[in-house]
Amino acid sequence: MVKALAPDVRPIEELDKRTQRLVKLAMKARKKAYAPYSKYLVGAVIVDTRGKIHAGCNVENANYAGTTCAEQAAVVKMVSRGAREIRRVVLVTSSDEPVFPCGFCRQIIIEFGPHAEVTTVNRRMTQFAQSTMDELLPAQFSKKQLHS
Ligand code: THU
Repeated sequence: MVKALAPDVRPIEELDKRTQRLVKLAMKARKKAYAPYSKYLVGAVIVDTRGKIHAGCNVENANYAGTTCAEQAAVVKMVSRGAREIRRVVLVTSSDEPVFPCGFCRQIIIEFGPHAEVTTVNRRMTQFAQSTMDELLPAQFSKKQLHS
């Protein structure tokens, strides 16, 4: 059996102070989540390449398929403000352990941040894990393919 490559899970105390501040902002965004169906609240913070911060939360819909993920909401906010390049994504989910963006969000993030760094924190804010979009979505399909 092939062993899945899981990034290291580390205690939150090992996270640098600047990232801890971003985690707090993601937690603030998470509190705004509209998730009456799954009860799974997610907050996402994007730092663009100019250092500006864009936060988003998940917004569910009674038809389920109309749900917007927190990462997607943050990307839409960033783009609507005129920014186009993602440097970092910081996420707080509702899981007991740190989890990374869903596959759909990975595709959305790489449009603007193919090499972005991703930090994710568990619900209780006791643990984190870090990775990069290259690692999370290898063999990316992106604008490069459309223009080749
Ligand atoms: N969700 C996110 O916001 N981001 C993800 O990366 C995974 C899932 C949301 C969608 C839905 O509202 C809830 O979490 C359960 O899937």
